[in-house]
Amino acid sequence: MEEQSIVILDFGSQYTQLIARRIRELKVFSVVLPCTAPLDEIKGYRPVGIILSGGPSSVYDHDAPPADDRVLALGLPVLGICYGLHFITHKLGGKVRPGPKREYGHAEINVKGQSRLFEGLPPSLNVWMSHGDEALELPTGFTVMARSSNALAAMENESQKIWAVQFHPEVHHTKRGVDLLRNFVVNICGARGDWTPQHFIDETIRQVRQTVGEQGRVICALSGGVDSAVAATLVDKAIGRRLISVFVNNGVLRKNEFQKVQQNLRDRLGLNVVAVDATDRFLNKLAGVIDPEKKRKIIGNEFIEVFDQEAHRLKQQIGKVDWLVQGTLYPDIIESRSVRGPSQTIKSHHNVGGLPDKMKLKLIEPLKDLFKDEVRRIGREMGMPEEILQRQPFPGPGLAVRILGEVTPERVALLQEADEIVVNEIRRAGLYTQIWQSFAVLLPVMSVGVMGDQRTYAYTCAIRAVHSEDGMTADWVPLPYDVLKAISTRIVNEVRGINRVVYDITSKPPGTIEWE
Ligand code: XMP
Repeated sequence: MEEQSIVILDFGSQYTQLIARRIRELKVFSVVLPCTAPLDEIKGYRPVGIILSGGPSSVYDHDAPPADDRVLALGLPVLGICYGLHFITHKLGGKVRPGPKREYGHAEINVKGQSRLFEGLPPSLNVWMSHGDEALELPTGFTVMARSSNALAAMENESQKIWAVQFHPEVHHTKRGVDLLRNFVVNICGARGDWTPQHFIDETIRQVRQTVGEQGRVICALSGGVDSAVAATLVDKAIGRRLISVFVNNGVLRKNEFQKVQQNLRDRLGLNVVAVDATDRFLNKLAGVIDPEKKRKIIGNEFIEVFDQEAHRLKQQIGKVDWLVQGTLYPDIIESRSVRGPSQTIKSHHNVGGLPDKMKLKLIEPLKDLFKDEVRRIGREMGMPEEILQRQPFPGPGLAVRILGEVTPERVALLQEADEIVVNEIRRAGLYTQIWQSFAVLLPVMSVGVMGDQRTYAYTCAIRAVHSEDGMTADWVPLPYDVLKAISTRIVNEVRGINRVVYDITSKPPGTIEWE
């Protein structure tokens, strides 16, 4: 069956990848190209429709992002969103002007008449607006299809197959946005909706093979988390043993994690894993250090050194290594794609601690267009264990930022035990996958207790559980009392060295998720 796609031309909106995601949710393949993509490249994707994204510019800016306006005359359905609407208006002879009032946030729009784009939707819609400019005069042949109290909200020219909306149907604040996109993609463009995660896997494998070639070698730093594991598994499917995944034990992993991750990835998924136990090295460097930022820096730098040494060792064994796989996700990409050309500007990412330029490795980032839940779906499709896919986020500096004050081997061991109890009890209560993060923190606070007839004088452990969408903000979770009780009883009874358990009821902001 012939492949179909929707091509999204990116004019630099922060929401562009959300459009792609919504379309993937409709089981239609979509690709985001910079607005400057040549017409032939666009046609090469055999699109059944084109979407012009929003963007921060004004069409009259001297450096307004350019696009080949012949996309409007390909005879394919076109949907302009926000800046996309201005682009269409401007290119087809209408007029755009700075609106007298900026529209930002929720707005009510009224739809007039029959439109295939608004089919099945109520005449009054709650939408999300984010624009300064507005269309003042429509190009010839266009009809106003919707208005807000402030400005034009939608226009179309059915015979030219061009639709455009001022609001953002791709953000979830636009209540029926998904239905509108479905109307465009499925009803108007006639996309079949038969695209699956397997297509993404197949396509990624094809691209990785093409990029790396017959001989190229690739390394990857595994963190034990879902992103690096899925990225490595994809690349492994493409080039097999030519990918070497390095997994470093920094001494501040969770209990048995070093062994468990190896088992999962090497034994169950067949990845080519090189495990480096650098526990002593890290803990020696951390000895006597109390300042949280210093701890983070030490762990980051040490990781880079260990990884670099390992890469050198591998090079001596197997020859040149050119590529580094990173499990970067779309939300990790701080800067959006450049709208001035096909190049991308990406800042360094926290997930492998910012590997140095001197390693001179070229990047492969197979997940860079995806969101976390999509990555999990891809992993599931490849048969990866749920234990990896459902794992809650765990910080690079590991338990070191959950042991306040100095990190010592004894404290790490205590926290590993307490942490395991928290994770097990949260899992037992069926809450693990519903909570963003739940963990124990070891406080360097000694208090008096009594056990049996014995006086104790031991550490305090704090429990933290938070809900979050992306880690940027978080709410503390009111864990059920019986779960808290089970956690507290087990920690005090089973972890010799902790005699008091407290519960952290601070949200972010003003707190952070991790204590350091
Ligand atoms: P904070 O503590 O800043 O954490 O509220 C927000 C999210 O980021 C995780 N985190 C890190 N992840 N390297 C990482 O890979 C780090 O250095 C790091 N510090 C915090 C944290 O677990 C939470 O999910």
